[in-house]
Amino acid sequence: MVAVTTRTPLIAGNWKMNLDHLQAVAFVQKLHWALKDAKHEFDAVDVSVFPPFTDIRSVQTLIDADKIPFGLGAQDLSAHDSGAYTGEISGAFLKRLDVAQVIIGHSERREYHSESDELVAAKVKAALKHGLVPVVCVGETAEDLEKHGASAVPVGQLEVALDGVASTAEIVVAYEPVWAIGSGQAATPDQAQEVCATLRDVVRAKLGDDAAARTRILYGGSVKAANIASFMRQPDVDGALVGGASLLVDEFAAIIRFQKHVGV
Ligand code: 13P
Repeated sequence: MVAVTTRTPLIAGNWKMNLDHLQAVAFVQKLHWALKDAKHEFDAVDVSVFPPFTDIRSVQTLIDADKIPFGLGAQDLSAHDSGAYTGEISGAFLKRLDVAQVIIGHSERREYHSESDELVAAKVKAALKHGLVPVVCVGETAEDLEKHGASAVPVGQLEVALDGVASTAEIVVAYEPVWAIGSGQAATPDQAQEVCATLRDVVRAKLGDDAAARTRILYGGSVKAANIASFMRQPDVDGALVGGASLLVDEFAAIIRFQKHVGV
């Protein structure tokens, strides 16, 4: 029997290399106030922010002190626990800072840091080992899309990333077509639904029915307040991984409050 699970939507802000620790603290305070002013129901939607590493301690201190119901995330981690890996950050260190989620395999790391599918898979294992939820990013370039269609590359990337992962593990998948990132040209809701449904089939094949029913699959790529509702109406899109628009308080608050304009 296929399990029926309600998946709490997740709106995640990937700040990339933006906002220093002082700006990050001010931003999180303003976002929290904006949501409180709008009487946002915090239980209805999970919100996570993914600041640069140097901001994490400051943001952790703020959300802890002010009881701000945001998840704290990191943008990457090392595949190693500790040792002679200059510049790397261990999942153990992130866990000590109450980091809950970690983005792995973002296309910018795949492209600018030559991260392979195998390295991504090793990082997924490292995250799970340290009690962090991996947010596994997959997506095709414009060239891949032309040559192989939308699903082939993300499916292959996810299959490798989930190798050896336990069926009980909590993971999040983010489908981010590379051509849609930062371009202002989002995928259509139908395109996002089709690929996210196919990625859910991969989760089912690798981790089983329960995992497929409970795993949140996000869409990312030029998400903004004006298009979030159309993505969230799709049955296999459980949230969004937001880049540029997550740096604007009012825009990001409106994305988080998509239920007010999604007609549910
Ligand atoms: P944009 O929302 O700026 O297109 O970025 C998406 C992204 O890469 C999030 O990880």
